[in-house]
Amino acid sequence: MPKRSWIIPAAVLGAAVVLYRNHAALERIGANVRDFSLPSAGMYDTLAASLLGGLYERVADEVAEAHPTGTILEVGSGPGRLAVRLAQTASNLEITGVDISSTMVERANRLAVGAGLGERVRFEVGDVGALPFPEGSFHGVVSTLSLHHWPDPARGLAEIHRVLRPSGEVWIYDLAHWLWRPARGESRISRLAAASPFSDREVEVFRWPGSVPAFVLLRLRRAREDEP
Ligand SMILES: C[S@@+](CC[C@H](N)C(=O)[O-])C[C@H]1O[C@@H](n2cnc3c(N)ncnc32)[C@H](O)[C@@H]1O
Repeated sequence: MPKRSWIIPAAVLGAAVVLYRNHAALERIGANVRDFSLPSAGMYDTLAASLLGGLYERVADEVAEAHPTGTILEVGSGPGRLAVRLAQTASNLEITGVDISSTMVERANRLAVGAGLGERVRFEVGDVGALPFPEGSFHGVVSTLSLHHWPDPARGLAEIHRVLRPSGEVWIYDLAHWLWRPARGESRISRLAAASPFSDREVEVFRWPGSVPAFVLLRLRRAREDEP
């Protein structure tokens, strides 16, 4: 055997051991990539703070214009940056965020308190499939980049409908179909909307960043006569 020929098999063996020992971590990274998620709330927040500020600003302006007062629920509120932005834009709004991740909820509550908004902006743990609020609790519901994570989006929309007041409005921003489909292989957002209990449903292309059609906006309204 030539002098250094043991190096290659040893390197292959070493790499195999490292890969084997980190198998779980590799699987987690794969799942995160497929789900457009990140491994930790802190990592997501760092990225959201630096990349998504412009999106939150546009969404907050739109929701605040339609609802300058009242109660808004944010579903899948993550680290809380949209809710805080919305509260800063509309000083008479009360905002409740709900998220399935307790780490995200802790982070979001810290952000709201740190911004001096702890009285008007609160976050709690909850699943969109079983929202922890009575019927007709909110004037409006907003959600960004969360729908593609929900295991049963139709159930989520039914729950949002239940906690919304009559005439209440919903804005759900999510990845455009061309981004969503490879991740989950599920049906189009418009089909979901059509099967939902809302009286008004519109699906719009939402161009962001710049003119890139990377998002869809699902606008929904609960019927006026539909008293809870
Ligand atoms: C990509 S993050 C988006 C966070 C935030 N809305 C934003 O735009 O930065 C998706 C969020 O949805 C939450 N989520 C996923 N499934 C959920 C469910 N079933 N019910 C409530 N929240 C959920 C996740 O915990 C996560 O915080």
